[in-house]
Amino acid sequence: MRILILGGTQFLGRAIAAHAVGLGHTVTCAARGLSGVAPAGARLVAIDRNRPDGLAGLARERFDAAVDVARNPDEVRWALAALDGRVGHWTFVSTTSVYADTVTRGQRADTAPLLAPAEDGPYGAAKVACERAFGRDTLICRAGLIAGPGDPTGRFAYWIARLARGGEVLSPADPEDPVQLIDARDLAGWLVRATRAGLSGTFDAVAPASTRRGFLDRCAVALGRSYKVTWVDPAFLDRHGVARESGPFSLPLPLPDTIGDASRDVSPTLAAGLTVRPLEETARDALRWLEAGGGPVTGLTADEEAGLLAAWHAERGYRPTGP
Ligand SMILES: NC(=O)c1ccc[n+]([C@@H]2O[C@H](COP(=O)([O-])OP(=O)(O)OC[C@H]3O[C@@H](n4cnc5c(N)ncnc54)[C@H](OP(=O)(O)O)[C@@H]3O)[C@@H](O)[C@H]2O)c1
Repeated sequence: MRILILGGTQFLGRAIAAHAVGLGHTVTCAARGLSGVAPAGARLVAIDRNRPDGLAGLARERFDAAVDVARNPDEVRWALAALDGRVGHWTFVSTTSVYADTVTRGQRADTAPLLAPAEDGPYGAAKVACERAFGRDTLICRAGLIAGPGDPTGRFAYWIARLARGGEVLSPADPEDPVQLIDARDLAGWLVRATRAGLSGTFDAVAPASTRRGFLDRCAVALGRSYKVTWVDPAFLDRHGVARESGPFSLPLPLPDTIGDASRDVSPTLAAGLTVRPLEETARDALRWLEAGGGPVTGLTADEEAGLLAAWHAERGYRPTGP
């Protein structure tokens, strides 16, 4: 197949392109080339989606399938207009941030309420507007947290780097709360299979949820590290100004007000062919990538985590018994 990736120079788009090349497809990545390079075996065509005519470099080309990872509704509409009638099957990579109810557990893509679409963001609302630009025969893939080597967000990498250091690890309570993620390579593999099959419809694309305790334990065992977790009340983290999700002084695990994003019912996606590698493999590969100079890693520094742990124990009158 001739497959176009609008993107393809970093993380997920690049993983999709690499997977398709590996299966012998003819792959074109279309991007500015600022975020990285297309994978070996794929062609990179320079485009600039900030301009309505920015896809001129793809004029007169035809593709059996195209995958778009855009976040801006104008960029999507301009691409659909520029490629009108020249793409057999469209896939749009959306996000579970499109959902309005971030608290209820076990929601499904076909019934969960959406945010109102918004042209200029925030992210989830803009993605709703992007989704609406596509036709009914599109595959809309709403990804959850994407993990593994090449991740430019550093969120999964935070826990891998942290567990690799061992010792006392601060995690938000509750240990039984859900954690949900997808290895970029599993998502890429499914999207290429789904593209070949001409799958359409809307799916949440993330592995079945595990517990927070299970997530940390399985990663630590896979990395061969011993650790002790201290479960900290999320209200304590809020009081100390720990940010949510990513960035400086943050902890990248969902807290109770976003737990619905981490517990989606993905049985329809599994029935539609998504396969999921063991978390241990993602953890080991992510550590190898970090050790080889990959990154970034977001979240707390070692000193910041130690300070928070000391404050948490002090509030409870805990006295360390020395080395
Ligand atoms: N990361 C997560 O955990 C997560 C979770 C849920 C959903 N998602 C979704 O999953 C997808 C991730 O995609 P991704 O990993 O490939 O990363 P991305 O950050 O969405 O990649 C953007 C791609 O678009 C290209 N691009 C950006 N601006 C451009 C412009 N003006 N003109 C042309 N190309 C442009 C970039 O290449 P150049 O910079 O080289 O132009 C890059 O290849 C996104 O749709 C995201 O919303 C991600």
